[in-house]
Amino acid sequence: MLPENFDPIALAREYESKSPQQILKLAFEHFEDLWLSFSGADDIVVLDMAWKINPQVRVFTLDTGRLHAETYRFLEQVRKHYGIKLEVLSPDRAVLDRYVLEKGLFDFYESGHGECCGIRKIEPLRRKLATVDAWITGQRRDQSPGTRAQVPVVELDGGFSGPDRQLVKFNPLANYTSEDVWNYIRMLEIPYNSLHERGFVSIGCEPCTRPVLPNQHEREGRWWWEEATQKECGLHAGNLIAKG
Ligand code: ADX
Ligand code: SF4
Repeated sequence: MLPENFDPIALAREYESKSPQQILKLAFEHFEDLWLSFSGADDIVVLDMAWKINPQVRVFTLDTGRLHAETYRFLEQVRKHYGIKLEVLSPDRAVLDRYVLEKGLFDFYESGHGECCGIRKIEPLRRKLATVDAWITGQRRDQSPGTRAQVPVVELDGGFSGPDRQLVKFNPLANYTSEDVWNYIRMLEIPYNSLHERGFVSIGCEPCTRPVLPNQHEREGRWWWEEATQKECGLHAGNLIAKG
């Protein structure tokens, strides 16, 4: 059930040009069972903003088992730096074991990333989101012109809402650019993933992420062997549904 008078479409319009902090305040005002989904990359900015508004902010991360060592270290650094409880979600063990037994550890290079992401990311996320009223992501429009250009600052989650329940999704950084994010990180001297010092811009799992060259778009470092239009792993399935 949505809170009374909470109309995501009207609010998306009203908050379109407001600051990420104003969007986060809107989220905290309306939802108690609100969770921030943190990937351990430059979305540290949204975590930092949320924590400064509400140090009790609830945060989870999806541990696919395939993250870079640097990302695991960074997750721990963030947990300690902010003094937060970080919920680390793992894939269903039986399903994962069966998948790896049948297909091995690198099947995504041959069959595409869908099945592996489905098991390692989407199923744990679906399990988590089934228990919450709203979530916050660090998605930005400039991250993927092909799939994220229309991301609203607040929306009904098109991927994880069910017939009986409506899940609200806040994207406070929708209007931020990579430059804005990095200005924020540098000006406020907040911690960041050390992979960013080695040419990584967008960071996901280790086998599916690589550094980009100057002037290459950040998304080209993700699932580089696949078509640009397929470069969503399903966490933000609503983006693809919205595009039709
Ligand atoms: S992805 O869909 O391609 O993997 P991306 O890396 O751009 O997503 O991150 C966009 C947002 O999705 C992040 O700011 C975060 O909110 C969420 N997200 C992505 N990966 C994870 C993860 N492993 N754990 C938690 N949230 C994640
Ligand atoms: Fe698997 Fe790669 Fe998806 Fe990670 S990004 S879950 S390793 S396919």
